[in-house]
Amino acid sequence: MPTLCAPPLSLYVHFPWCVRKCPYCDYNSYTLHGDLGAERYVERLAGDLEAQAPAVAGRSVVSVFLGGGTPSLFPAESIARLLEAARRHLAVSEDAEVTLEANPGAVERGAFAEYRAAGVTRVSLGAQSFSARALAALGRIHSPHETRRAAHELHAAGLANFNLDLMYALPGQSRAEALRDVAEALALAPAHLSHYQLTLEPGTVFAAHPPALPDEDQAAAQLEECGARLAAAGFARYEVSAYARAGRQCRHNLNYWTFGDYLGVGAGAHGKLTLAARGLIERTVQPREPRRYLAAAAGALTRTPVPTAQLPFEYMLNALRLTAGFALEEFGARTGLDPASIATPLARLQARGLLERSAAGYRASALGFQFLNDLLLEFMAERPEMSAGYALSTAAAAAARDRPPPLFTGAGRAVGE
Ligand SMILES: C[S@@+](CC[C@H](N)C(=O)[O-])C[C@H]1O[C@@H](n2cnc3c(N)ncnc32)[C@H](O)[C@@H]1O
Ligand code: SF4
Repeated sequence: MPTLCAPPLSLYVHFPWCVRKCPYCDYNSYTLHGDLGAERYVERLAGDLEAQAPAVAGRSVVSVFLGGGTPSLFPAESIARLLEAARRHLAVSEDAEVTLEANPGAVERGAFAEYRAAGVTRVSLGAQSFSARALAALGRIHSPHETRRAAHELHAAGLANFNLDLMYALPGQSRAEALRDVAEALALAPAHLSHYQLTLEPGTVFAAHPPALPDEDQAAAQLEECGARLAAAGFARYEVSAYARAGRQCRHNLNYWTFGDYLGVGAGAHGKLTLAARGLIERTVQPREPRRYLAAAAGALTRTPVPTAQLPFEYMLNALRLTAGFALEEFGARTGLDPASIATPLARLQARGLLERSAAGYRASALGFQFLNDLLLEFMAERPEMSAGYALSTAAAAAARDRPPPLFTGAGRAVGE
């Protein structure tokens, strides 16, 4: 039997406010009314870090992700104070990757240099599209020009290691328009590009009033052509929606996808911790609404152990998103389970042509990568009792739902959706 080992540890910090809620977005984010109250929020985050620190004593933090919502609404002094608190309470590695999410319409001019001085090493910029018409249809608060200016400011501030978020299959978007967005993004010389298929998420304005979107075949064609354009520019696809120049993969997200651990602080933030000595993996979640989070005592989070039977599914939910797949030894070390316990689903999926051997172990085949949910169903415990859609959505919520964005979208088209 393999021994459950504590994997690398990351820190996720959630900032729940935005200038305006986008009609497609189901993130835990809220339109800001009135004062941001940055000082009070950072104080609460610092309390949270202090409260959670004992659970990870002696472990170093390899990456920090400041996500939202819109963290760039917070001034650099607030970010500096938060990172100081993280360094005070946790063993943050000297060379930790520290990413800040920024909205091109909600970042002060000249702020990137200050964020860098505060300790930010990487920025993720929500570009979405370079078409003014598409941005208006998405309810975005910025123009293509503001995105270009933000990218230029990032280079000038010495933060060339930045990501651009793009969405495709937008309302009324043609293949040529999707390709133009990729070309415009590449012209800004990012190090990383996230390319998400726009999905209609329950509870959003778009779900209630759906815009006319390209159909699945058109979306698949956009994905393929954009992927080829990115590959030609030296951006390798390493995950369902993530493309990077060599050595510029997002270390923080890679830790999620390899079933690493993370502390989650801030409103609604999720965490995952391996308690190796107790042979247990635990998920944590903070009060979701900012007001409730602010009112709650530091450390008042909900802890739920992950049932052993669910571990293969939870591991695959992450690992199969990676083009490189996973190694059986890592599966054993990260779940504490004997790899022999998944021999049957592995063999079945290979026989169906959805899974193949890789240098490291196994990975989704080209076909499997398009139908990831089919692969995941093979690893689900208690399949007959729950509908695939329900099981997948709850597991996705329990997993790293706060980041990265929607699981099972883009290339993850499958049964049950
Ligand atoms: C938290 S946001 C990024 C930062 C900032 N809030 C912004 O929007 O500029 C994360 C990313 O998820 C993607 N996203 C959000 N909702 C989505 C949806 N319904 N379908 C596809 N992608 C989505 C967008 O590309 C967005 O930039
Ligand atoms: S997409 Fe970004 S800016 Fe828009 S509501 Fe969601 S978190 Fe806020």
